[in-house]
Amino acid sequence: MIARVPPDPGRAAFLKTLTLTTVNILFDDMTAQVRVPVLVRYRYEVQSVTSAGCFDGTDKVLTAQPLVLELEPYADGQRKTPAALGMLNFFPVLRHLPVFSRMLRELDGAFLGLNKELQSNIGEHEEQAAEKEGDVRDYLDAYLLAQRQRAGTDSTFTSFQLLVSVRDLFLAGSHTVMTTLRWGLLFLLKYPHVLRKVQAEIDDVIGRGRLPCIADQDNMPYTRATIAEVQRVADIVPLSVPHRTTIEFQLGGYVIPVGTAIIANLTAILNDPKHFSEPEKFRPERHLDERGDFVQNEALIPFSIGRRVCLGETLAKVELFIFFTSILQNFDIRLPDGVTDPSMDGNLGVVWMANPYLLHCVARQ
Ligand code: HEM
Repeated sequence: MIARVPPDPGRAAFLKTLTLTTVNILFDDMTAQVRVPVLVRYRYEVQSVTSAGCFDGTDKVLTAQPLVLELEPYADGQRKTPAALGMLNFFPVLRHLPVFSRMLRELDGAFLGLNKELQSNIGEHEEQAAEKEGDVRDYLDAYLLAQRQRAGTDSTFTSFQLLVSVRDLFLAGSHTVMTTLRWGLLFLLKYPHVLRKVQAEIDDVIGRGRLPCIADQDNMPYTRATIAEVQRVADIVPLSVPHRTTIEFQLGGYVIPVGTAIIANLTAILNDPKHFSEPEKFRPERHLDERGDFVQNEALIPFSIGRRVCLGETLAKVELFIFFTSILQNFDIRLPDGVTDPSMDGNLGVVWMANPYLLHCVARQ
């Protein structure tokens, strides 16, 4: 059920294997439901490329599933907590109010569950420790080896640090990509002319005889532009992640003291008409020049701004391209009968999520 990490993973081979295997899994699941409306929500999240990268390709990664399932009810609206949870990020003082503290306790419970599962994976890796770099199978092996090599020094490679690093990668890497993908399919349902153009480009450049690979994107400006536009409009991390100043400095005539929380308003930039004309419109063409080549707009900052941007930006872009193209190469997506204008409503939790929606997923002939 998970992507397998090759024995000696060069970066390219590693990404290729991870993404392609994961896509196959997505297909199995989707094919099983051909002609039945599929509820698009967080069910695929357990196939997170990140988590697969953290383990060794055994089924153990699936044991991380419970946390995903704990968070999933936020997405399908069964428990109405997410917006409030997002607010805590910016107004931590709210944690003292009963409604918020209850939510935090629930979240803590989910974290403890995930910690336990991760800890057990780490324990298994410790038992079969890699003796040298050539034996390293994955991130856990690499970290544990580095930790042993630094034993007796005041190294920052600690067991606790390993746990939180893997947990961060798992959480930051899975929710975000799947949320973007979910928005992306929704936008394509709403704007079928874009879907047709992307599929035409896929057929033209990749055909049906093989799965897409990342090198294809150089020849697929319209698809890249569509993904860029999905990221702009979906705007899944509207206020990024709060930062805090470590020194006093001046900005625009104001003195910003040490310890001030700084919040980057990504939404304002992603919707600024100075950078994106008619920003309310979903228009992939805005990311193309007059020759039809893809143009990277500097104001397109879904991964945040400044030095400390998203650590997984490169991986996320690879995943988004491979997932989008692989799905659309092999499937037609359509609105269920009777639905003409899908709701674009979302829900703000850790990220801005599209509400669950139905689509028909039909294998392309
Ligand atoms: C579409 C996908 C993604 C989006 C939109 C996204 C967005 C972001 C944003 C806005 C931040 C906050 C940066 C800041 O502090 O200013 C962030 C941080 C982070 N992201 Fe992502 N991310 C995505 C995918 C990923 C993936 C695939 C990974 C993992 C491999 C990942 C790992 C992280 C980590 C570890 C941080 C914290 C970095 C730090 O604090 O230094 N992200 N991401």
